[in-house]
Amino acid sequence: MNRGISALNSEFPALKERFGGRRLVYLDSACTALKLRCAADAQRRHLLRLGGCGGGRSLHALAAAVEEEFRSARRSVAQFVGAASPEEVLFTSGVTDAVNLLANSFPFTPARNEVVLSPLEHNAVFLPFERLAAAGRIKLRVAPLRDLRVDMDGLARLVTRRTALVCVTHASNVFGGSVDVRAAASVARGAGAFLFSDDAQYAPTHGRCAAADGADACAFSGHKLGAPYFTGALYVRGELLEKLRPWRVGGGTVRGVSRAGDGYRAEYLGGHRGFEAGVQNYSGAAGLAAALLRLKKAGFPEIRRHVSSLVAGALERLDGIKGVRVLGRREDLTSGALVSIAPRKKGFSLPDFNMFLNNELKGRLVAVRTGRHCADLAALSSGYTGTVRVSFFSYNTQADADVFVEGLERYLSLL
Ligand SMILES: Cc1ncc(COP(=O)(O)O)c(C=O)c1O
Repeated sequence: MNRGISALNSEFPALKERFGGRRLVYLDSACTALKLRCAADAQRRHLLRLGGCGGGRSLHALAAAVEEEFRSARRSVAQFVGAASPEEVLFTSGVTDAVNLLANSFPFTPARNEVVLSPLEHNAVFLPFERLAAAGRIKLRVAPLRDLRVDMDGLARLVTRRTALVCVTHASNVFGGSVDVRAAASVARGAGAFLFSDDAQYAPTHGRCAAADGADACAFSGHKLGAPYFTGALYVRGELLEKLRPWRVGGGTVRGVSRAGDGYRAEYLGGHRGFEAGVQNYSGAAGLAAALLRLKKAGFPEIRRHVSSLVAGALERLDGIKGVRVLGRREDLTSGALVSIAPRKKGFSLPDFNMFLNNELKGRLVAVRTGRHCADLAALSSGYTGTVRVSFFSYNTQADADVFVEGLERYLSLL
């Protein structure tokens, strides 16, 4: 592990905690990463030293200081996602919030009302569009899965002149690896549709989102890269942002309201202002900016190299273990940050295995994620309804993967 990464890793205090006297081996960063001290400090400092009105509503000096920090956080996020301007960054509480906003603000028309999803979409992406489809407002198409990967030819066949939006996850939270967003963006563009990329699993270890790959919109969650819970952003390219109709509206989103006949007419602000209704998570944004800065200092290329080598090492150790199937192809998986395995041995119980990892390993508590991973489309398309997912971030070591594999072998030997 290089020196920059080990210095970074000393800044995740939860790693030093004991749970029931056991040392934590945290292999669940795909759910949420442990939190960086600098991010927590930045949030706390913001709350205690500023903590006043933001959003340009009030004209006093404290409000100006809050607004300036918010602006500075937006600039950091804009750089991270690859936005041409901070105006294209909408703060959200994470990807779920971002996609609900996008789906409900999107300018569907009767002639263009179809949404094509990859079969790997998390419920955070699938369900907001599924609801619109159930209400008769759009038609939903789901691309096929081939060898646990998005079948790009199959996706291209679904994209037509009626397609308004194509959504792909940049890295699956179930099967790992990464997805060719460029190819999907070119298919979407060819039909005059927009492309959204879910960067929840991609951004933390690649240090960027898909704006540079041709995505018109993309989103990430700050809590998956060491920033506070309930932080994240939606990037929307200016050309699309102008067409969105603000969905969640309220204070701070309008230029003015006038009387119009018997009712009223609201004129919404352009750029991100029209979408960030009410008081925002200013302290969370400060924490998010601090986390991004710290990870950048450690070096995203180094984080990526480290995580790729952990995935490769885990695959090597898992190779040949009878009783489980490692999902996906090695050459794809090393571009991601996780490995999923499907139990094959009779009697394998996911709840029992979790209990075993919690309680039966000497001095260690191994935290992994099991189940459908909130990705019902992936489960329905693949038939894998319960996998064990081991996911990595900068603070993991090969020894962590080894402890997991030894635990797995011991559990299998009991069946
Ligand atoms: C691929 C993917 N997309 C979206 C989400 C939802 O993210 P959040 O809960 O931060 O909104 C997750 C969460 O695990 C995810 O893995």
